[in-house]
Amino acid sequence: MPKVIAMAGKGGTGKTTLSALLLKYLIEKKMTPVLAVDADSNANLNELLDKKVGITIGEVRKDLKGDIPPNMSRDQYMEMKVHQALIEDSGYDLLVMGQPDGPGCYCAANQYLAMTMDHLADNYQYILVDNEAGMEHLSRMNLRSIDHLFVVSDPSARGILTARRISELTGPLAIEIKSKCLVVNRAPEPLSDELAAKINEAVAESDLPLGGILPASNELIHQEITGQSYLKLADNVPVVEKAFAIFDKALGAE
Ligand SMILES: Nc1ncnc2c1ncn2[C@@H]1O[C@H](COP(=O)(O)OP(=O)(O)OP(=O)(O)O)[C@@H](O)[C@H]1O
Ligand SMILES: [Mg+2]
Repeated sequence: MPKVIAMAGKGGTGKTTLSALLLKYLIEKKMTPVLAVDADSNANLNELLDKKVGITIGEVRKDLKGDIPPNMSRDQYMEMKVHQALIEDSGYDLLVMGQPDGPGCYCAANQYLAMTMDHLADNYQYILVDNEAGMEHLSRMNLRSIDHLFVVSDPSARGILTARRISELTGPLAIEIKSKCLVVNRAPEPLSDELAAKINEAVAESDLPLGGILPASNELIHQEITGQSYLKLADNVPVVEKAFAIFDKALGAE
């Protein structure tokens, strides 16, 4: 059974950034193969990995509603299509979910898709899910449990409060979340005593332990602007070192 790691957090806090850094970590620690799932309908994890999006799962689902080749069962066709949608690289594959179906669609296509995703998942040691801001996507993915959820926040009192609320929202979901932690991203360096106190206070009052704090990083901005893969960042870049320490702690403790 693969281990599932997912991201949550308000828009623009750094979920996709953390996903790309985590993918780098998993590859370097040989915790592979990894299936990286871009579950944001406005896909952009591929950009941080310098990859082009081909077919999305949303398109596969649409296809399945139409005619399928006469010599194939619907299962076989689905399986083939999903494999076409996989973007393969060394140590990991990337799958882009694309546009979701309309709300309340329980069509057969979704069931076939869920089954195929289950099969596919068996091929990997880790599944990494980069979400968009909402939590609905986690239910859409047909995941039964999440081994670790990273809740990402900006470095502000209100941001941390929002992260706590998002973390509480995962309670009623039909997915078991085995462990989770807060990652405060883009923190100024040095961290002010006030912000440190605020973070500690928020953490002490909630069931969301602090995973760690990541600094604002010019190296990340440079990599994004020049369109270079985050996987190629040097290991001694401070934000990479700090992210790896967070992953050591969060994933090693499982
Ligand atoms: N530690 C950091 N230092 C500098 N820039 C950062 C850092 N983390 C994220 N950013 C920048 O902030 C922007 C938003 O980050 P990112 O796309 O990872 O957020 P997100 O939570 O995935 O957003 P969305 O909710 O839109 O998916 C990006 O331009 C990214 O490069
Ligand atoms: Mg994102």
